[in-house]
Amino acid sequence: MIMSDSALRLAVVGGRRGRHFGRALSRLEDRIRLAAVCDLSGAVLDSWQGEFPAARTYRRFEELLADDGVDAVFLATPLPLHARQAIAALEAGKHVLSEVTAANTLADGQALIEAVERTGRTYMLAENYCFMRPNLMVEKLAARGEFGAVTYLEGGYLHDCRHLMHEADGSLTWRGQLRVDANSVYYPTHSLGPVARWLRAANGDDDRLTSVAAFTTRTAAVSDHFAERFGGDHPGAAPDHWLQGDSGTAMITTTSGALISLRVDASSPRPHNMTHYAVQGTRGAYQSARRDGEDPLIWLARDAAPAANGAEPERDWSSLWDYAGEFESDQWRDRVEIAAESGHGGGDFFVLEEFATAIAEGRAPTIDVHDAVLWSAVVPLSVESIRRGGAPVEFPEWLRPTSAPEPSLTKQ
Ligand SMILES: NC(=O)c1ccc[n+]([C@@H]2O[C@H](COP(=O)([O-])OP(=O)(O)OC[C@H]3O[C@@H](n4cnc5c(N)ncnc54)[C@H](O)[C@@H]3O)[C@@H](O)[C@H]2O)c1
Repeated sequence: MIMSDSALRLAVVGGRRGRHFGRALSRLEDRIRLAAVCDLSGAVLDSWQGEFPAARTYRRFEELLADDGVDAVFLATPLPLHARQAIAALEAGKHVLSEVTAANTLADGQALIEAVERTGRTYMLAENYCFMRPNLMVEKLAARGEFGAVTYLEGGYLHDCRHLMHEADGSLTWRGQLRVDANSVYYPTHSLGPVARWLRAANGDDDRLTSVAAFTTRTAAVSDHFAERFGGDHPGAAPDHWLQGDSGTAMITTTSGALISLRVDASSPRPHNMTHYAVQGTRGAYQSARRDGEDPLIWLARDAAPAANGAEPERDWSSLWDYAGEFESDQWRDRVEIAAESGHGGGDFFVLEEFATAIAEGRAPTIDVHDAVLWSAVVPLSVESIRRGGAPVEFPEWLRPTSAPEPSLTKQ
């Protein structure tokens, strides 16, 4: 095993999701050393020790934070814990890589930004969908101006996760409880992260996200699931047990007049496809593969034959992969096989690599705390919008869409 003395000493907190990173960690062993694992469950800790016998184990997060042999934590705990655990870790001097989403309330988001600024530690959101191969290629196309000015984008997370909303005995997991507590576009960063980066790459830092108007459907597939699985007497079999509607859509406006359409549906039965994106610009368009085995499609004006005078132009999609020679991302070039064997279309590998590299180079990571809180803010803003019948709710001024260091929250 190759191990460098300067390797980042990382602790995984929340070992179930964290376990998916085992392969990426092994690939990055010269850069990242797994120093510790923390989980409430002894069984989860045992499952790690087989592969990483040198890693220390903790049941309590506070004890882990006191471990001087840990430089950084990867928070893969239930979503409602992320903001508070991240702040505690930053205050304890640790760098933080946080699973999505970063914060569920604006107050927690603001406190998180302040903690990063106060401590000077590195914080990155583990938004792995930003690093998928087609998504990084589209970012490069956008940055090179191939779409022209971007006017419309779509992002969707469509994944039937109803089996994760309850334990085998019918009691609710944190995912289920979230749906009792609020009605929102509740898991926005897989959809918004990549498209926000494309918008910025194409239109520049000044194109800020301005407002969210959100809508959800009634609850039907979730209550059906509980009725089928646990019988009609289970409280979840009644649609009005749930505040959360099955399918949520948010329309986001931007200062340039672009529109982003986000869709989140982790409730309705359908085959899972990892990508659900679209871009429309003044000189090009993109639509992601809608199922496994399909190619993502692109059309660029630069490669189109001019139309005869007065005739409708003849246009056809090309495979995005036809453009790989020119637009393959630096991350994926020459490393397709390494990355593809790690989870989520390679995203898990590049998230870890970027986090370690940013710390080693003393620079902000490519998905910093401002992006993290901005993208996550769709959750509380959509709660408010849905409560007001879909009325647009503005992003607060202090939420910036860029990773530039100014203006600082603490100076306002
Ligand atoms: N980026 C992605 O593609 C992706 C995929 C799946 C999950 N996630 C995110 O990862 C996170 C975890 O998801 P999951 O499916 O593994 O959840 P899970 O409920 O299956 O596992 C959570 C783990 O955290 C542990 N835990 C709970 N509270 C803890 C605490 N206070 N201290 C230490 N450990 C604690 C639990 O024992 C459990 O092992 C969530 O935020 C989820 O949104 C992201």
